[in-house]
Amino acid sequence: MKIRSLEDLKKIKEEAQKRIAVREGHAEYKVVVCMGTCGIASGARQVMAAILDEISKRGLGNVAVSQAGCVGLCDREPLASVEKGSEKVFYGDLNPEKARQIVATHLVNGQIQGEWVVHVER
Ligand code: FES
Repeated sequence: MKIRSLEDLKKIKEEAQKRIAVREGHAEYKVVVCMGTCGIASGARQVMAAILDEISKRGLGNVAVSQAGCVGLCDREPLASVEKGSEKVFYGDLNPEKARQIVATHLVNGQIQGEWVVHVER
């Protein structure tokens, strides 16, 4: 978006503040995207952007989003985990479409998207 007026700048600022609230909030769910070098090389940034966008579109206020480094599963990148309480579900081989689906299935409906799970900690 090109900034042409003070209104444009305000819009960008509001959007950024919404995203920061999503990243920093204390929430029921925590989503962590692995952003090590191989994660980024295989598309982790696009996955992160899709997750933030889908959460924002759906107006979910119960999710905190953050990033982590390498978790040692290079061949399954891009990776992201969804945590709730003591349960941590790692999803692998992600792309933006799968990431959006995980928001809908896991974060909205509370169901694990089984076929994309690479590891579960309880
Ligand atoms: S950066 Fe992904 S496994 Fe090392």
